Amino acid sequence: MAVKHKHERLYRLSPWLYNNISALKAALRNWAFVVANIRMMRFSVNIGRYGQVAKEYSAEFDRITNIIASDSRRLGYPRSFNMNRKEGLLLYYLVRTLRPRMVLETGVANGFSTRLVLAALKRNGIGRLVSVDVDKDVGGLVEDPGSGRWRLIIDRPGKGLERALKGISRVDLFIHDSDHSYKNMLWEFGMVRPKLSGSGIVYSDDVNGNRAFLEFVRKNRLSGVIIPTFRKSFGIASKRPIKI
Ligand SMILES: C[S@@+](CC[C@H](N)C(=O)[O-])C[C@H]1O[C@@H](n2cnc3c(N)ncnc32)[C@H](O)[C@@H]1O
Repeated sequence: MAVKHKHERLYRLSPWLYNNISALKAALRNWAFVVANIRMMRFSVNIGRYGQVAKEYSAEFDRITNIIASDSRRLGYPRSFNMNRKEGLLLYYLVRTLRPRMVLETGVANGFSTRLVLAALKRNGIGRLVSVDVDKDVGGLVEDPGSGRWRLIIDRPGKGLERALKGISRVDLFIHDSDHSYKNMLWEFGMVRPKLSGSGIVYSDDVNGNRAFLEFVRKNRLSGVIIPTFRKSFGIASKRPIKI
């Protein structure tokens, strides 16, 4: 393969490195963020407990994700948009153990997280989910879109979340996985916070890209935890100390 590229020398040195350079750069940036914010990490709690979470909920979670993986429908988004296993399993665990009455999420894409949350709520036998997105071609993976447990709001950036919050008196679990810009993340967290219930949780994907999650946690004196995966980190914040 002729590589006419500024990284040509790198390709000659190691084709593997050449092919994985952007993933490695993302991982390096992520771990630099993790190290810089190590005090918020609670490594011992999370990593220790994660093994337990995995033991308790892996079987249920794997049954659902296997069904999702075998779903051959054409989807609007690449599957790489879906949450990874660690993020998905912890989200599933949170819904199963917190038993939230009201879950709100921004960012649906194929609806991987949506389907997980709906499956967990169904198992709990209680709770509703309101999802917000800007694109109408979302939610392809959702099993039963007409179920009374789910409401999907499609609107312009910002408008959808405003509309969703108007119809909700409290939020027990907020999941941010939409536009990960500093401005939007901070805005979404700030909009949801007044409606967060006493034991409410904010679960945010991609907290390593900017300081929005850290600032939100500090400014509101919340308990915050950052959980790293290889290329990115996600965060959990709550008014009460978090015991995952
Ligand atoms: C990473 S994907 C979500 C993945 C999904 N949570 C999952 O696990 O399958 C991001 C989604 O956010 C949506 N989005 C982008 N900007 C948004 C905004 N300002 N408000 C709401 N949704 C937005 C995109 O249309 C896309 O569907």
